[in-house]
Amino acid sequence: MPALLDAARAARLHALAPFSNFNVGAALETEDGHIVTGCNVENASYGLTICAERVAMFKAISEGHRRFVRIAVVADTEAPTPPCGACRQILWELGGDLEVILGNLSEEKGRFRMRELLPLPFDARLLG
Ligand code: THU
Repeated sequence: MPALLDAARAARLHALAPFSNFNVGAALETEDGHIVTGCNVENASYGLTICAERVAMFKAISEGHRRFVRIAVVADTEAPTPPCGACRQILWELGGDLEVILGNLSEEKGRFRMRELLPLPFDARLLG
């Protein structure tokens, strides 16, 4: 999915990560073919930092999108950068069993499904 990885690479250029210097871009594809991007945004109160994946998902929700098929995540690293635990929860709850495509600046590094990345999830089905 080169177009989605390229969109994530472009979004990464907007990353605001002066504390970690670890710039991440994400691109989320909706069921009807829209691409919504995100980058990480850090804060001096480190815990308020938000990852690229959640920025992309919250932007998409705020723009009225509700159904998604895949997300690409890009960092400038040899090893792939998978979504953190908090992002896995949000992506699962709002996006379901997305395809997750990981890449760096030049190549794809792996593909997963959300159900592989977050086995035995807690979600609204368990709230009764
Ligand atoms: N980060 C992301 O944006 N996405 C990931 O998948 C991993 C981590 C960000 C959070 C923080 O700004 C920086 O990378 C270092 O953890």
